[in-house]
Amino acid sequence: MNTDKIEHLISQMTLTEKLGQMSMLAASLVVTGPVSPRDPVMLVREGRVGGILNTWGYDEIREAQRVALEETRLKIPLYFSVDVLHGHRTIYPIPLAEACAFDRDLWLRTAAEAADEATRDGIHMTFAPMLDVCRDPRWGRICECAGEDAYVNAEYARAKVTGFQNTNDHPHRRLAGVAKHFVAYGAVTAGRDYAEVDISRRALHEVYLPPFKAAVEAGVAGIMPSFTDIAGIAMSAHRGLLHDLLRVKWGFIGVIVSDYNAIGELIPHGVAQDIVEAAVLALKAGIDIDMMSGAYEQGLPIALERGLVTMQEIDTAVRRILQMKSAMGLFEYPLRGLQQEIPGPDTIPAHRASARDAARRSLVLIKNEDGLLPLSNDVRRIAVIGPLADAQSEMMGPWCMAGDEQQAISILQGLRESLRAQDIAHVPGANIDGPADLAGIASAVAAAQASDMVVLCLGENRQHTGEAASRTLPRPFNCQMELAKAVFETGKPVLLVLATSRPWILPDWMAAGPRAILIALFGGTEAGRAIGDVVAGDYNPTGRLCISWPYRTGQIPVHYGMRSTGRPHDPNNGFSTSFLDAPIGPRWGFGDGLSYSQFELGEAQVSKPVISAEETVDVSIEIANTGAHSGEATIFMFTHDPVALATRPLLELKDFRKAVLAPGQRTLATFQLNANQFRYPDFNMEPRLDNGRINIFIGTSARRIDQKCVTIDVLQPPVVNDDAA
Ligand code: BGC
Repeated sequence: MNTDKIEHLISQMTLTEKLGQMSMLAASLVVTGPVSPRDPVMLVREGRVGGILNTWGYDEIREAQRVALEETRLKIPLYFSVDVLHGHRTIYPIPLAEACAFDRDLWLRTAAEAADEATRDGIHMTFAPMLDVCRDPRWGRICECAGEDAYVNAEYARAKVTGFQNTNDHPHRRLAGVAKHFVAYGAVTAGRDYAEVDISRRALHEVYLPPFKAAVEAGVAGIMPSFTDIAGIAMSAHRGLLHDLLRVKWGFIGVIVSDYNAIGELIPHGVAQDIVEAAVLALKAGIDIDMMSGAYEQGLPIALERGLVTMQEIDTAVRRILQMKSAMGLFEYPLRGLQQEIPGPDTIPAHRASARDAARRSLVLIKNEDGLLPLSNDVRRIAVIGPLADAQSEMMGPWCMAGDEQQAISILQGLRESLRAQDIAHVPGANIDGPADLAGIASAVAAAQASDMVVLCLGENRQHTGEAASRTLPRPFNCQMELAKAVFETGKPVLLVLATSRPWILPDWMAAGPRAILIALFGGTEAGRAIGDVVAGDYNPTGRLCISWPYRTGQIPVHYGMRSTGRPHDPNNGFSTSFLDAPIGPRWGFGDGLSYSQFELGEAQVSKPVISAEETVDVSIEIANTGAHSGEATIFMFTHDPVALATRPLLELKDFRKAVLAPGQRTLATFQLNANQFRYPDFNMEPRLDNGRINIFIGTSARRIDQKCVTIDVLQPPVVNDDAA
């Protein structure tokens, strides 16, 4: 639909119809029971709804669209949206897991496949990607983001937006992305969901905004403000960030969609007296779509009467929504993409294979003493113990509305498929939470004693993860710890599989007890097979942590990008920054992870020692596989600016890449680094580039011991003052 037609449509709309377009309803449209006065079908029929969330499937979508097209005055099609976060019917690893793959192609591919499945189910919009950088495992929603680093989240944003929106050949297989939650939701105080956010402008500009900037640059269709405030300004009313920065400075032209009931929640937030004020604040801030608060529908007519908002402001929002519907092709093809047969892991084998690959690439082998893995042929009898061993449903993780847990592969099943020659005994030994099961522990111990080794599968219940799932002690419940203690006491070699949604703060004995530890953040439909592949040695692990695992809750936040201090950590100096009762760094940090191969780095080289603004330098390093297995190395390039206007992080990630190497093979990895990548926000938050030295660290993790350093100098030509000339 062209611009003139959209303007013509707007000119015909009543206020109710305009506010209807601006309202999103959570509903099921196939009526199977009594109809209430606020029956969704009635609301659609009266033109009071523009889009629907949490509805999918052939009958539902067809019926809803039929009502919109046949029974409303203006016959404007509806759009349908669902949180397709890590797959639709086929479920891929949770974002925090998939980020550990450090693989942009993978991130893009799984988004494109999810878009393919969701659009066949009638979905047009997903509330993803979630881009809230987070350094706090107490926050349940940490599982939805790509970890602790701004650059990783930004790269993840680009890949996901492109995968959802632009990758599939047919336009009807493309899904509009809504990047969320703008912004800094990941910094909620104490990791308590919905709590206040009080961070510096520097943190906002350096850490939390860049992933959203990347999403906007990639052309994301929508942005969702977070439920929270920043330094007292509620995000759903934050004109400074939503309008001045996002719209004006960044040039974002898509729709801004509120979070669920967030406009109405401006009242308990304490910044709006009533629904009228709430609606005015949100509209003035730039929110186009009210998800489920009814504030626009109820508040804006009164606000208009009182002269608090203008019809032009309402029309601007309606115009953006109609443009979005037009770009989706809904005016021409209101049932775009919809298919009667249900697509999913059972019907799209290619997606299933892709999910297995994604899950394998997301696993992080963090400990492997004496090469316990891959399993040797001498291991004949295996006891698979723990409440997560046969937990199909948990493998799916949070936010998988259309995923079918019956299709998910448990760890036990995956091990049975991969280890056909071994004798596998299974004993749960404990529930996920609740009281310790003494009889269960006794049977687990007996099974362990009768085996050559134990695979101990501990983890979380998927209901303990995601939204409203904050914990002060993110670690196994006591019943699981009792089980682990008893199993360790048998003295059998243990592989501990941690099937969680977030970093766990493990007691030291629990990290020390097992010979091997596999971090298996919820891997989705094919989680179990992926674990089986790695244990059996059919797949050589390549995942690296995108998030630090602290030793103690009291260390939080602990991450690789801490700033330099005036008293840098020095183990020999008591008056340097440190804890008396815990190490300064995390137990396992950013980039940590093992392979069945060994990789060695040569010296890092730069193609020139000095660069000026806008110039690019090649930074290269030789990498060799000195082990006996073919494997895939992950190489990170960090920088550190030792002297700047503001203190800089000790390391800043600038790039990463993978290298596949056969035993004995070497390759040269070459990164490009542009001087603009050394810019950092000055005191006005404008990008600033200083002359001087930059240290470049290339390595296999964020640990200095795994890195090689090379330096470069930035030298900009002196500024010529034309007036003086
Ligand atoms: C969440 C959003 C989500 C929305 C719709 C809210 O509770 O914060 O992330 O997109 O619900 O499901």
